Amino acid sequence: CGIVGVLGKHEAAPLLVEALKRLEYRGYDSAGIATVNEGALERRRAVGKLVNLSDLLVHEPLVGKAGIGHTRWATHGAPTEVNAHPHRAGSVAVVHNGIIENYRELRAELAEQGIKFVTETDTETVALLTQHHIAQGKSPVEAAMATLDRLNGAFALVFLFEGEDDLLIATRKGSPLAIGHGDGEVYVGSDAIALGPLTDRITYLDEGDRAVLTRSKIEIRDETGAVVERPVKKIRIDAARVDKGGHKHFMAKEIAEQPTVLAEAIRSYLTPDGKGIALPGDGIDFTAVDRLTMVACGTASYACLTAKYWFEQYARIPVDVDIASEFRYREPPIPARTTALFVSQSGETADTLAALRYCQRKAERIVSVVNVPESSIARESDLALPIHAGVEVGVASTKAFTCQLVVLLLLALKAASDREEITAEELAAHLADLRALPGVLNAALDRGKDVRKVARKLAEARDVLFLGRGLMYPLALEGALKLKEISYIHAEAYASGELKHGPIALIDKTVPVVVMAPRDALFDKTVSNMQEVMARGGKVVLVTDAEGLRDAGDGVWQQITLPSVAPILTPILYALPAQQLAYHTAIAKGTDVDQPRNLAKSVTVE
Ligand code: G6P
Repeated sequence: CGIVGVLGKHEAAPLLVEALKRLEYRGYDSAGIATVNEGALERRRAVGKLVNLSDLLVHEPLVGKAGIGHTRWATHGAPTEVNAHPHRAGSVAVVHNGIIENYRELRAELAEQGIKFVTETDTETVALLTQHHIAQGKSPVEAAMATLDRLNGAFALVFLFEGEDDLLIATRKGSPLAIGHGDGEVYVGSDAIALGPLTDRITYLDEGDRAVLTRSKIEIRDETGAVVERPVKKIRIDAARVDKGGHKHFMAKEIAEQPTVLAEAIRSYLTPDGKGIALPGDGIDFTAVDRLTMVACGTASYACLTAKYWFEQYARIPVDVDIASEFRYREPPIPARTTALFVSQSGETADTLAALRYCQRKAERIVSVVNVPESSIARESDLALPIHAGVEVGVASTKAFTCQLVVLLLLALKAASDREEITAEELAAHLADLRALPGVLNAALDRGKDVRKVARKLAEARDVLFLGRGLMYPLALEGALKLKEISYIHAEAYASGELKHGPIALIDKTVPVVVMAPRDALFDKTVSNMQEVMARGGKVVLVTDAEGLRDAGDGVWQQITLPSVAPILTPILYALPAQQLAYHTAIAKGTDVDQPRNLAKSVTVE
């Protein structure tokens, strides 16, 4: 969920809505704002995307120069108006990101006192408890503090009070929160991006901090209650609104701009002569690394899985890859000389951040690969490597994935070279291939028409299988994820060799099988698996190059042909048809491509 607060000189509602637009990546199940105007507290909430709230505000405006806002990704309770934030109890309104773990216990206590609940949310408990403290004679600040003393979990909260035109209380414990400094104004937001158009002067709250904000004074206390100074940082954020650049959807634009952003990502990591790799900051000396532990969620975890193949095969470094939600609770041992690497587009994914914090005390070094340099994950790493993808709006990650792959490949090549597993000449040759890749991607994008034709057929399926071997296995997983995310077609991916151990039972003529198979060293093996599918009446969509088609194209149902590239680069190139296939299938089905149901771009709760 995304939260925002304003104590301003002008009307708060338009500022709040604008900031929420920039936080919509954190969820879009429902949204709401509350303001105080000459002491009177009022709120408006609407189910669904933010536009529904803006529409409501046209008919039922909210005045007042102080306010809070929220965009929700439902956890406790369905995405209804009643469950939408801000939650209000008497003179208290509150917005919340995260989870209050002991809310049942608090709820029971309040219920015993005859206090009634209207929602199923943990957040309402916070509002009711605070109001309960006020009813007992406490001031708003005392009441909020007394409530905070009782809360367990990982959360960020902002409070607004009736009768208080110049007061916000903000706290962070587990979930990030930033304070923005304006000219006689003060803001709060889940991240600095939300506050981008308002200010570039940001203070990040530390774990456990509680801030009492007025227009003239910001007082921050730490967990022990001591008043603390937190630094004000000047943040460089592109405040310009992102647009679709003539495309129908952000996803289409983001697919199309991959050659450009990848070229930028590649350039930024190469030495001026193009023959070496230069990392920012202190870089990484891979001769001192015995093991890599890579952790991420969703698409980013498939980038990690791809990188495992690169690191192990070329640099001979053992790599563990795990999804963050499993890693964080398994208490995995972290051997000496381990570097922990976290990959996240947003840099705000709650599980990935928690996994990072687990490693902080244990791993030699924490490195992150992120798209948002000011994000929590970037700030908490020893070294943050930017992927230079630019703002990604489509919920289904595209250009961030390929830029992650580029940065991870460069790391693997650097590791191979540091450890003398490849020579300087071999490195230079790989980098020359990589520099030529944006041009190849352009050529591949030009073949979009073939993909559209295949997608129209795929749109009729209920289930789709993806197969790949070696570097194409993680990509098959990513292809299946893309397809289910935006077209809602059930899709699964398997390592081609695993097909015969179970999934082959699913094969019949209604289940298309997408086979990703460049003509590389593993091609013949994959083709054998493909033959096993066709022998059982399965319909194969073969994604390959001209040589692959020549050698194995007979009998396939549909085909997508790509240019040939060096084997090490195939995952980056083959990501394109995987994305386009999902995109065009979703278009054929008429689903909401940029904001698919139930998903959030970045999941900031556990
Ligand atoms: C969400 C998104 C996925 C994304 C994942 C990780 O689930 O829907 O597309 O891959 O989070 O996000 P991150 O920002 O950490 O890369």
